[in-house]
Amino acid sequence: MSKFYPLTVAKVKHETRDAIAVTFEVPPDLKDTFAYRQGQHLTLRAMIEGEDVRRSYSICSAVQDDLLRVAIKRTPGGMFSSWANESLQPGATLDVMPPMGHFNVPLDAASERHYLAFAAGSGITPILSIIKTTLQAEPKSRFTLVYGNRASSTVIFRDELTDLKDQYMDRLRLVYVMSREQQDIELFNGRITEEKCGQFLQRWIDIRDIDVAFICGPEDMMHGVSRSLQAAGLAKEKIRIELFAASIPKHEHKPRQIEAGARHQTEVTVIMDGNAASFTMDKDKESLLDAGLRAGIDMRYSCKGGVCSTCRCKVLEGEVEMDVNYALEDYEVARGFVLSCQSFPVTDKVIVDFDIAE
Ligand SMILES: Cc1cc2nc3c(=O)[nH]c(=O)nc-3n(C[C@H](O)[C@H](O)[C@H](O)COP(=O)(O)OP(=O)(O)OC[C@H]3O[C@@H](n4cnc5c(N)ncnc54)[C@H](O)[C@@H]3O)c2cc1C
Ligand code: FES
Repeated sequence: MSKFYPLTVAKVKHETRDAIAVTFEVPPDLKDTFAYRQGQHLTLRAMIEGEDVRRSYSICSAVQDDLLRVAIKRTPGGMFSSWANESLQPGATLDVMPPMGHFNVPLDAASERHYLAFAAGSGITPILSIIKTTLQAEPKSRFTLVYGNRASSTVIFRDELTDLKDQYMDRLRLVYVMSREQQDIELFNGRITEEKCGQFLQRWIDIRDIDVAFICGPEDMMHGVSRSLQAAGLAKEKIRIELFAASIPKHEHKPRQIEAGARHQTEVTVIMDGNAASFTMDKDKESLLDAGLRAGIDMRYSCKGGVCSTCRCKVLEGEVEMDVNYALEDYEVARGFVLSCQSFPVTDKVIVDFDIAE
């Protein structure tokens, strides 16, 4: 499960000055391993300046495309995204972990739903996959996309969206919101905020008609839009969000007081790929992930910041406390899923399983 596979880069397309779309060649024997659901992401790994750098990138192709493609937007000063935008060429090999993530809903050809999506900047990446896949898989469903950018020149996948609009004239509604380029309709100018979303809901979008909403973009935009949708009457369970969160500062763990007389150490068992491995760790010095890696277990991770969910596992026995969680939905936490990079054992024995997906 933690395994990286070397995949060859088949194509690098410069979508804008600061964003590339990268298509991977998937050999026939890895087709099943890299089969994905719309909205999932890949963890990519590269050695950059002697450092093992791992980052998550959302798949932007449709499930039906028989293609594995991600888009990488350069973050100013960002290590992986700058390296990829400057150096990645067709023929290069990258280490890629199989697709992960839950930013999607099950599709059904008989459904007749109206989906809504708010995307900003590189947040379009998983949304494009979701739109393309859904419109093909559910012939009676519709999609409305509100897509925020600074100006036309920074719009990733503009041509592809135009083609989609032509193909699904009656089923895809597409609205561009620009913050630094004046458009005729005032509503379409500015940034996507809670207030702007509220204006869309008053004038353009009937919330009673919406079955599911997807949001992907900067953190403040996502929370603002989510609040606005809920205030208009959309149930929280119908709102799916995906946080990219390069901007979230790394969290510093604050040690807990361990009760007098209580054991300071925990016996941890990690189940992965059907095998169990055990180690002993201090309850509050390092996360379960760091302790496991130190014990020589090849546990999977990417951000180590509670954002990407690559390190997700299920607690089968015992209890852990999570520091931060930007990745798991409430229902996953209720079912016992945790982020191992954020988890610190509370009980003297903990068993976690990385093989359980749902
Ligand atoms: C589930 C998921 C899906 C994602 N999908 C996509 C996608 O489809 N497309 C996409 O482009 N991105 C996506 N991301 C974001 C991506 O994973 C990276 O976070 C992003 O590309 C930035 O990585 P980087 O290595 O370039 O930047 P980093 O080197 O990680 O830097 C990030 C930020 O921190 C700042 N920084 C770096 N080092 C320091 C320092 N020492 N002190 C202060 N500040 C510093 C940088 O200036 C930058 O602003 C996704 C993230 C997640 C979690
Ligand atoms: S490694 Fe990203 S959430 Fe734990």
